[in-house]
Amino acid sequence: MTNFYSRLAKYYDQMYSFIDYQGNATKLHKIIQQYRKSSGSSLLDIACGTGTHIKHLMGKYQATGLDLSKEMLEIAQEKCKDIEFIQGNMVTMDLGRSFDVITCLFGSIGYLTTHDDLVKAINTFSKHLVQGGVVIIEPIFTLETARDGSMGIICLDLPEIKIARTNVSRKEDDLVYLDFHFLISTKENGTEHFVDPSPMGVFSRDTYLQLMQESGLSTSFIEPGLAKEGLFIGVKN
Ligand SMILES: C[S@@+](CC[C@H](N)C(=O)[O-])C[C@H]1O[C@@H](n2cnc3c(N)ncnc32)[C@H](O)[C@@H]1O
Repeated sequence: MTNFYSRLAKYYDQMYSFIDYQGNATKLHKIIQQYRKSSGSSLLDIACGTGTHIKHLMGKYQATGLDLSKEMLEIAQEKCKDIEFIQGNMVTMDLGRSFDVITCLFGSIGYLTTHDDLVKAINTFSKHLVQGGVVIIEPIFTLETARDGSMGIICLDLPEIKIARTNVSRKEDDLVYLDFHFLISTKENGTEHFVDPSPMGVFSRDTYLQLMQESGLSTSFIEPGLAKEGLFIGVKN
């Protein structure tokens, strides 16, 4: 999985240029204002990728980013010069400080494939929150919405790059294989084909909410979220 994002990193921002990160940041800011009870403005974006949410939030928050992929973080750092980016794993991170806001967006939580890792990650998120701080988790799907055999296609015809991403998802027990195939053409690199082989963990809404409550958070699930799926919100008691 790390290798996959390390390979995709240089194309990631173009691949997802259709996402309204600015609009998402505006919605996130409103949600944070509504739920956060602490007074500070420190924010940790977990699995921050190339840092685009941070880019649009850093005017309002003292932001820090964390991600597994060095290559994704290098792009984030280029984009947000004065921001601290940390290479780390959301399951095991121990930053020795706490934040008023933690976000984990765009389905990144789905890369946790076992219940055990989900428990550890949610406990870790809670541990890194100040009292009254808020965590916002955006899954790409839950048990209620995960589908076997759903198909997708995205085509991007930009002047300097052509991208096609197609997939047929496979659901096997508690895992979904999105099986994204990317065909990417640029003048510099010709045409590359690669596949995201990562299974994604499927957990029910109740599981997320229960684990968040057990880690000392008051919880809500709100819809609509930023994209198709809703958002899990937790406030540290
Ligand atoms: C779909 S991208 C989302 C990036 C960013 N949040 C966004 O909205 O564009 C998923 C990111 O999760 C990161 N990731 C996956 N598993 C992780 C883990 N266990 N700890 C930290 N980051 C992880 C990947 O490296 C990748 O950058």
